[in-house]
Amino acid sequence: MNRNDAHPRLICLDETDSTNNYLRAYLKKEQLPEGSVVVADYQTGGRGQTGNNWESSPGMNLLFSIVLYPEQLLANRQFVLSQITSLAVKETLDAYTDLISIKWSNDIYRQNKKISGILIENDVTGITISRSIIGIGINLNQALFESDAPNPVSLTQVTGKTYDKQEALNRFLRIFYAYYLLVLQEKFTEIKDTYMQALYRKEGYHSFSDPAGSFSARIYDIETTGHLLLQLENGEVRRYAFKEVSWE
Ligand code: BTN
Repeated sequence: MNRNDAHPRLICLDETDSTNNYLRAYLKKEQLPEGSVVVADYQTGGRGQTGNNWESSPGMNLLFSIVLYPEQLLANRQFVLSQITSLAVKETLDAYTDLISIKWSNDIYRQNKKISGILIENDVTGITISRSIIGIGINLNQALFESDAPNPVSLTQVTGKTYDKQEALNRFLRIFYAYYLLVLQEKFTEIKDTYMQALYRKEGYHSFSDPAGSFSARIYDIETTGHLLLQLENGEVRRYAFKEVSWE
């Protein structure tokens, strides 16, 4: 089987530790076509960014991982995978509710609460990305969150309705595959423009804090590497990598 040409597969599980882990272990034994997806009803060890857990009650939410082989994509351009994944999640949720935005670098927010998280694990070979495992959790139907996650929210908490996980996954995949085509066509500027438009607090001055203290700044730009440029009210521009700055 040619992993780049065959139709993507969909592997559905009742339970696993983490769909990212399951996909990685599976690929050690057997190849899967590009775009294949592992989806689980429940994760016993769902992983978040920076080693946190990802909370999700059994059967309530969408938990899945996708494998890509973006072999032409330069490692220093890997942030584009965060951009298209965030955009595809945002546009999926736009179909169900309003006020969805992308909080740099790839948290999906509804107003001031996090409704979806993304964990991307890339393998670099030489100067390009040989494989990307993109894990996504979207809070659909969970009524209550119990962990110490700062500000989770689900669609059902917003609208009072229940959502079909399969329908949401299909909607996401249609949008995501279309964005991935733009990556393969190297339409990076188009992707960046759409991403910038979708950003949380993209306009005006807001409070941020870094190890030196808090300050007021506006989003000035985001580099192709994913670094955030913030401009202070005195014109000074500061540059941050992921987790080096936080919103207050
Ligand atoms: C974050 O901390 O914002 C990232 C959360 C990513 C959660 C998803 S759920 C499916 C996939 N499997 C995991 O273990 N994590 C990701």
